[in-house]
Amino acid sequence: MRALGFASYFPLGEIAAQTACHLRLTMHHKNMTDKYAVIGNPVSHSKSPLIHALFAQQTGQDISYEAIEAPLDGFAATIDRLRKEGYKGCNVTVPFKFEAFNCAAELSERAQTAQAVNTLSCEGERLIGDNTDGAGLVRDIEQNRGVTLQGRRVLLMGAGGASYGVVLPLLTAGATITIANRTASKAVELAAKFSGVTGGSYEDLAGMQFDVVINATSAGLADSAVPLPDGIFAPGALAYDMMYGRETPFMAFARAQGAMVADGLGMLVEQAAEAFYIWRGVRPETAPVIAALRG
Ligand code: ATR
Repeated sequence: MRALGFASYFPLGEIAAQTACHLRLTMHHKNMTDKYAVIGNPVSHSKSPLIHALFAQQTGQDISYEAIEAPLDGFAATIDRLRKEGYKGCNVTVPFKFEAFNCAAELSERAQTAQAVNTLSCEGERLIGDNTDGAGLVRDIEQNRGVTLQGRRVLLMGAGGASYGVVLPLLTAGATITIANRTASKAVELAAKFSGVTGGSYEDLAGMQFDVVINATSAGLADSAVPLPDGIFAPGALAYDMMYGRETPFMAFARAQGAMVADGLGMLVEQAAEAFYIWRGVRPETAPVIAALRG
């Protein structure tokens, strides 16, 4: 028997119905929950699963998001497993941001400049690395704190991984940047990667004033003060600590000097929102999520 052609077999109306049915099935398949995760070590303390769950609820996106602890020597193997299991992307936190940078086949400019990746997207076989930390910081300062960075004098304290991640986005926002570090040579090295950025020691800051002072050191973790001179804050200056959860010696010093003080919780939520946007193409409202986390 001669096989009947598709068109001659189905009346037009039925073809439309069949196509619609096929589309529905395809869409149903596509609507299966997309899997995401944050990978770190340790990672159980991470607020990212809660933040992304709140984003998903708010935007109606069908995703799951969990915290996965990778062995210290097993980041690449963990990523490989997640890819095979169909995960669409993951966030990367301490201590794997540099390894994630090395794993990614493609990198955004901001990830390249940061030499670190906090957001990986799995697109078929391709693993794409981005870094949303700096964008999160800029957004928190400008949108949530209402401080414009264009033309402002910004002091960035520290020249470790946290600082590398934020220089380019701060520059792009129009800030004039000075980097100070305990080990001055590292500040000089980081500053030299950009034109118009200066780097040096804390002693070099004598007599200078800044509109925004950002603490990107890990000094707060050890509760040690950072050696800032009195009078470093210009009138109405913002003192921003990338840490959150408690008052650091830097925040206490800034408060005593009359500066506005911000912790890093907003940055955490904003970097997550930027990752969510990369993955889902939808920008969640961050204010209610920040408020929920502050409880
Ligand atoms: P991260 O990835 O969090 O930036 P890091 O790469 O270890 O961590 O960098 C830590 C940063 O905090 C460095 O700039 C470090 O200064 P040094 O380069 O001189 O080590 C800075 N830091 C840590 N403890 C400090 C302290 N007590 N006072 C001033 N700076 C400190």
